Amino acid sequence: MLKSINCGALRLEHVGQTVTLAGWVHRRRDHGGLIFFDLRDRSGLVQVVFNADISAKAHALAESVRPEFVIQVQGVVAARPEGLINPNLATGEIEVEAHQLTILNPAKTPPFPINENTPVRDEVRLKYRYLDLRRASMQQNLILRHQVTTFIRQYLNNQDFLEIETPILLKSTPEGARDYVVPSRIHPGKFYALPQSPQQMKQLLMVAGYERYYQIARCFRDEDLRADRQPEFTQLDLEMSFVESQDVRDLIEAMLIELVESVSDMQIQQKPFPVLTYHEAMERYGSDRPDLRYGMPLVDLTDLVRHSRFGVFANTVAAGGRVKALRVPGAASFSRKRIDQLTDEVKARGAKGLVWLKAERDGLRSSIAKFLSEEEKDGIIQRTAAEEGDLILAVADTAAVVHETLGWLRTHLAAELNLADPNTLAFCWVVDFPLLEWDEEEKRWVAVHHPFTSAKPEHWALLETDPGKALANAYDVVCNGMEVGGGSIRIHDAGHQQQVFRALGISEEEAWSQFGHLLEAFSYGAPPHGGIALGLDRLVAILAREESIREVIAFPKTASAMDLMLQSPSPISPQQLAELHLRIVPPEK
Ligand code: AMO
Repeated sequence: MLKSINCGALRLEHVGQTVTLAGWVHRRRDHGGLIFFDLRDRSGLVQVVFNADISAKAHALAESVRPEFVIQVQGVVAARPEGLINPNLATGEIEVEAHQLTILNPAKTPPFPINENTPVRDEVRLKYRYLDLRRASMQQNLILRHQVTTFIRQYLNNQDFLEIETPILLKSTPEGARDYVVPSRIHPGKFYALPQSPQQMKQLLMVAGYERYYQIARCFRDEDLRADRQPEFTQLDLEMSFVESQDVRDLIEAMLIELVESVSDMQIQQKPFPVLTYHEAMERYGSDRPDLRYGMPLVDLTDLVRHSRFGVFANTVAAGGRVKALRVPGAASFSRKRIDQLTDEVKARGAKGLVWLKAERDGLRSSIAKFLSEEEKDGIIQRTAAEEGDLILAVADTAAVVHETLGWLRTHLAAELNLADPNTLAFCWVVDFPLLEWDEEEKRWVAVHHPFTSAKPEHWALLETDPGKALANAYDVVCNGMEVGGGSIRIHDAGHQQQVFRALGISEEEAWSQFGHLLEAFSYGAPPHGGIALGLDRLVAILAREESIREVIAFPKTASAMDLMLQSPSPISPQQLAELHLRIVPPEK
């Protein structure tokens, strides 16, 4: 080894010892006869002093050293004098008096400082990711990620799970997001698809009798990217045989609680995790992944304003729509302009408008106040529990639009008003999702989770009569407004699987050609089984208090799915194209 000990490990107990250190120059201060370096390796920082009186040669060489040079230092550990102790540094009670200095590799001036947490443009950070990863915050995030995966592996191994790898070169199937595909050289015109998740493979492992499987699995989806979505991401993927939904949830809940306690100082808001039905979550929070760190529930006014003189309310209710409201604490001071901005935002999300009411000392002030009866006004104040200084926002529309827009306003305004405690983890389960939802564009039913999800046993008949009413035996785990994971009890017999394919408009032949392996497997004794997948990136991002999962992935891609460091995707040579039997058709202008 080029070093005898790690920089960050040095303490008072090492005083007097001769040590060899190697690392990066984090910071340097030149005081003439004395030059100070903060020397950094992965373990932390230590102060190294070059004293011309101790080694003139080392001191002279130190003058030429700049931040991010890689050096090796031999020296003696010394206690710092009383007044020079740095309580903010783990090694702050000591320093190393340098006797010898070797420059292992010089460094250009980096495009941004490594030793400060100054904001740097994302493009620059991603282009020089290997420098960005040197910064303390990124290092902490990746260490946390390692702790999370280590914990999960140990936890599940102790519970008798087997970690089993599944293929990356898989098969393209309809349903789900768009696939990333890989052309085959040996089979002209044929393609593998990268897994969107190991869903079918883990179910086949259950058929194979493995009973408890998990994998830290890479998944690939060609979909629109956001702060919480990457084209390739990691799941803790898990499947169990002979279980019911409660068993899977209990296991995951206990694991998450122990995980948080072992790697984080954040507090879990409620244990056991609250369980909401999909219907309750939508009605109360306008979202199937509600942030429960703050209240602000949506309040139903539909029956109250059914006969309102305010036409928008009455007409919406008459047409079968809903009128709901949201109380924004202390926001009566919002300006007209601010409310106009919010109105534009909800219009962009499909609403026709936004009604505002301000709770003032002498009652409700609003542009529609003159149309509201006393009973309506009292009812609104009572139901929203509005107090002086609060703002009430209401939307009248179809249930879908009301929930979409008020749900958005709720999270958006809570963030703006800092209502969410950053140190709290508000986990909850959302259950009883619909099995299918109507896709207006494709004019057909699509699976809410995936086509392998079982209906609730008593709901199978609904699939034939009223498919939209059938509920799934599925569950999502949500934390602080983010969907951290989702899973279900699966279909394990070929008949039910065919029934779902039929409801999805997948013909018998297509079902056999695309999913024949599964249908056939189900005819060879498939056990009842179920499972879940947690978005590992999302879980770590929440624990790291990061907004974007990019901050917890070593080499992430941009919002346009590019790797700015590797400059990928990139063209391949004509020879590679020929080998793959591919010809590029330029996109039409
Ligand atoms: P699902 O599609 O809900 O379920 O995915 C499970 C979890 O993975 C995370 N996730 C993502 N994270 C980052 N970037 C993405 N593009 C992305 N997409 C999803 C989310 C999500 O909750 N096979 C099923 C699971 C099962 O039924 O067992 C599945 O993949 O946190």
